[in-house]
Amino acid sequence: MSLTRLVIHQLRNISSADLTFNPKINMIVGANGSGKTSILEAIYFLGLGRSFRSHLTNRVISYDHKAFTLYAEINKRNINIPIGLQKSQNGETLLKINGSHANKLAVLTQHLPLQLLTPESYTLVSGAPKNRRAFLDWGVFYHDPLFYHNWTRIKRLLKQRNAALKQCKTYNELQVWDNELCLLSDEISAQRQAYFDLLIPLINITIADFLPEFSITSKFFCGWDKKNKSLQDYLTDNFYRDKQLGYTSAGPQKADVRFKINGLPVADVLSRGQLKLFVYALRLAQGLFLNSFNNKQCVFLIDDFSSELDQVKQQLLAKHILKSDAQVFITVIEKDSIETLFGQERTVFHVEHGKITVE
Ligand SMILES: Nc1ncnc2c1ncn2[C@@H]1O[C@H](COP(=O)(O)OP(=O)(O)OP(=O)(O)O)[C@@H](O)[C@H]1O
Ligand SMILES: [Mg+2]
Repeated sequence: MSLTRLVIHQLRNISSADLTFNPKINMIVGANGSGKTSILEAIYFLGLGRSFRSHLTNRVISYDHKAFTLYAEINKRNINIPIGLQKSQNGETLLKINGSHANKLAVLTQHLPLQLLTPESYTLVSGAPKNRRAFLDWGVFYHDPLFYHNWTRIKRLLKQRNAALKQCKTYNELQVWDNELCLLSDEISAQRQAYFDLLIPLINITIADFLPEFSITSKFFCGWDKKNKSLQDYLTDNFYRDKQLGYTSAGPQKADVRFKINGLPVADVLSRGQLKLFVYALRLAQGLFLNSFNNKQCVFLIDDFSSELDQVKQQLLAKHILKSDAQVFITVIEKDSIETLFGQERTVFHVEHGKITVE
């Protein structure tokens, strides 16, 4: 699977571009503010229907324009899948896949699995648990076809339960939500755990290569202490506390993955560059998993490839990227710094004030 063509209109400082991509390595080169990350942002929109830089789509539309438009062609086992996406200032989204209107962004995600690596990626380990849940759920989504349904259902249930929690006087009034909630929570936890157990060996192999000096342990926490009590017991026991908090404090919405070195959180031990490598190892392992277990290929978007990595680590990262056989988009300021790392099967794009040319 690869992104073969991308047409961009009015996205950030790119007023118009029609790009044909290499099925393997695509290097995007240009000075600060030229528009490199904006190309990755456009691809990210195609995979996830949103930006990784702003919650406000309006920020992404070029100044003084009403909408941005993307047209892309994806090659999936030699079948061409055209995708059109338009986002307007008034919040309207138009999505067309294979010539038909689509209303679910999850369909996009199925067509274009993406892994994004940016200088801020370290927040996966240093940030809130929701970052690690998103990391884990990315993989479970592709691995288990029933996960998406369970996850959307539980999100809705929790919203309803939290609203009811604020109104009700006794726990009995919540029982109507909790029967289904507990059943779904057990299912989701089992789905996450099954994926995590399969992913861990791949993570360990990659980490051993990237950070051989550390012994890192990884543990999945399902969102409540399963060994101690059932979720039903937690919900009953926490009723007054949750009512005060205004939300449900135990359940799969609190799941996490905990990475430790000698009992300490990795974020407290590793340097910034090491953290970046660690997160890259996690994401590369997920890409590898997708390929070997799910027979799907993911596309890697790597923003600011060389930042915070020494030459040896850049070589190591390049080696793993090439080994993954995936399509990759890499942005760099100076091409010379990475030119020798990626062999000849590549296309280089130069970006200058939003204008893109092929080398
Ligand atoms: N809505 C918008 N309309 C037009 N231009 C915008 C908009 N939002 C941001 N810009 C400009 O678009 C340019 C593209 O920024 P981008 O982040 O893609 O650059 P970059 O090449 O990745 O730079 P760096 O190397 O600093 O990361 C910037 O000059 C920015 O000021
Ligand atoms: Mg950038």
